[in-house]
Amino acid sequence: MSDLERLSFSLEGPLYKRLKLLCRASGYSNRSEFIRDLIRARLVGREWELDQEAVGTITIVYDHHVPQLNEKLTDLQHDNHSMILATTHVHLEHDRCLEVILVRGRAGRIRKIADDLRRQRGVLHGNLSMSSTGRNLA
Ligand code: NI
Repeated sequence: MSDLERLSFSLEGPLYKRLKLLCRASGYSNRSEFIRDLIRARLVGREWELDQEAVGTITIVYDHHVPQLNEKLTDLQHDNHSMILATTHVHLEHDRCLEVILVRGRAGRIRKIADDLRRQRGVLHGNLSMSSTGRNLA
């Protein structure tokens, strides 16, 4: 761990109260750790805005009886095989499947893969969770 720097800053009273409430509601007992995580969340946001290398999790729920859908979803993943780290498939119900796809690469390309997957007919829901390699967060 690197040396600690001490910060001192001012907040308006109402904003300070909101910070305390938010910290407590988020389950943090340590306010410094809460603020560190707020900063890290903003840094991850910047990584995505600047199209830097990132990590993402794409979750899709789909009806596997829709013609050609399985092939399209598999083709899209093969087209991006160098970025796809792993895929987990769960048979949710008789008709519906859930897939979680772990992706690493440039943020914009991850976003495009997620968009391409979720706009296929038969995909009922698609979600992209935007995370980080963690390289710039320490
Ligand atoms: Ni299935």
